[in-house]
Amino acid sequence: MKKSFFFICFTFFSCSLIVPAVFGQAGRPPATKTPGPANRSSHAGLQPDGNKPAWWKEAIVYQIYPRSFKDHDGDGIGDLKGIISKLDYLKSLGITAVWLNPIYSSPNDDNGYDISDYRNIMKEFGTMEDFNVLLKGLHERHIRFVMDLVVNHSSDEHEWFRQSRSSRDNPYRNYYHWWNAERGKPPYRYSLFDVNHDAWRYDSLTDAYYLHYFSRKQPDLNWENPALRKEIYGIMRFWADKGVDGFRLDAFQFVAKDTTWPKFPDGFEKDFFQYYAIGPHLHDYLREMYGQIFSHYPVMSVAEGAGRNMQDAHDLVDADRKELNLAYAFDGVSVPRPEGYKLSEFKEVFSRWDSAFADKGWISIFLANHDQARMVSRFGNDSPPFRELSSKMLTTFILTMRGTPFYYNGDELGMTNIRFDKIEDYRDMATLNDYQYQKNKGADMAAYMDFIRFSARDNGRTPFQWDSSPQAGFTAGEPWIKVNPNYPVLNAAAQEKDPASPLNYFRKMVALRKKNPVFVYGRYLDLDRENPVVYAYTREYRGQKMLVLLNFSATDAKTAIPVNMANAKLILSNYKDVFPGKRIEAPGGDRAGARIMLRPYEAIIYKL
Ligand code: GLC
Repeated sequence: MKKSFFFICFTFFSCSLIVPAVFGQAGRPPATKTPGPANRSSHAGLQPDGNKPAWWKEAIVYQIYPRSFKDHDGDGIGDLKGIISKLDYLKSLGITAVWLNPIYSSPNDDNGYDISDYRNIMKEFGTMEDFNVLLKGLHERHIRFVMDLVVNHSSDEHEWFRQSRSSRDNPYRNYYHWWNAERGKPPYRYSLFDVNHDAWRYDSLTDAYYLHYFSRKQPDLNWENPALRKEIYGIMRFWADKGVDGFRLDAFQFVAKDTTWPKFPDGFEKDFFQYYAIGPHLHDYLREMYGQIFSHYPVMSVAEGAGRNMQDAHDLVDADRKELNLAYAFDGVSVPRPEGYKLSEFKEVFSRWDSAFADKGWISIFLANHDQARMVSRFGNDSPPFRELSSKMLTTFILTMRGTPFYYNGDELGMTNIRFDKIEDYRDMATLNDYQYQKNKGADMAAYMDFIRFSARDNGRTPFQWDSSPQAGFTAGEPWIKVNPNYPVLNAAAQEKDPASPLNYFRKMVALRKKNPVFVYGRYLDLDRENPVVYAYTREYRGQKMLVLLNFSATDAKTAIPVNMANAKLILSNYKDVFPGKRIEAPGGDRAGARIMLRPYEAIIYKL
């Protein structure tokens, strides 16, 4: 039974998304104030490992879930004015780009991932005027803006779909995928969010089925139709002309389908990804998009998901192919399980991706997003003695690896899973539909509740904890989803005052990465691969070498590494106090190498 729970949550959100980010022209701040055109980096002229420097490689992207960040008008839903009121907070973090989950008009079946008007702002979030103010405010603070672009599907309330379903010969009919019922039932397609897992929905109006890989209210767009593709490029131009700096392409690897609709083998849904990702003509569409958009606007591009294998991932982002900029692969976030995970697997995944992209292409580094439960609850230890330490340790990892960090809002405070006891507290349609599905098939619902307490997306969507006032200072009203009851002790205001807080540690790590290109471009080497609790690696670039040591356990640990520590300089630690006693044995290295002691969840960085 448990297995099927894993299947839902880990297969998709672990293996499927990529994001594009670009730099437009119009509406962007003047050259002196902006971070510069698409490929200009602060380290221009260096040629690391065959990779040309680019701003989006050096970027530190901070992801904001707008619904839960800050509510300005008191309706309990975060909004653009709320984000505007926190612009100085964003600046204080030092991050250089913001990715916002969708803010377009939407009936919110899937919190904005079901768009009914791509050229308008969701009414709960504000107006286009608010958007303009937000973009200007970010640019004035030298922060770039990455727009979420959801074009695998639209809302069923989009005008295109209203037209499309109205008659078989409507000009918009082929904007979506239809199967006329006189042909019998269409070949089974798995739906990720449907309560029956069935991706074909019968519509009596025209006696036909339409396709929806996600919910019934998210019909899939037909990318084979050139008229549809033209509309999408028009939408991208609209936002690029406004000055957005990048696009994250939601679920993009699914857009291309084999529209001869072959029957897939029985049980294909257990590995549906192999059948759905990178379908026919996907690369043609991306090259067309490049020609239409990315070659004209200096924007960055990242798609959600990186294909079925490394070859797919490279094919999406190798610069000479002129498709996208960076890959966003899910293997890393698939590692944790409710019963725990092995550090060896974590290391293996990140080492594998690093080596596949060591000379060509570029990846994202992240441990959380809006589709995941909280980073510290999944990868660290959110019990009171270790919450802060382990979240700082994970932050150290994200900001010292090669690739562009995508850091999820609230993780800088070490926000934790809320672990709802009652299904009524959940808001995510994906969880609610899956709950119903499991119930219908007679699953062990107590076990299911345990499972979602660990994995449900709503764990990562509770309101940002600003201070200890009611509702954590998120809203003056009733929040759309409950605030985590730990907000009186875990909040930004309290952490501002503590120089050793996760928040201030995040700022320090951001500053360190920005100052040291070795963390962006440097060669990565895993040093103590067999160590079950310590992750030890070096980054090396142009004569500079950094050693990163991370203890992933709640007990003291030791690493033995082939490194001469005689002249090593400690530059950062996540502990307030210095190590008591002798930390390093055989600093010059003997046959066993240098032996270094670490405290529980300790993270340290040495300059070698
Ligand atoms: C992507 C989004 C997720 C959404 C899904 C359908 O995976 O990240 O939040 O539910 O696409 O749009």
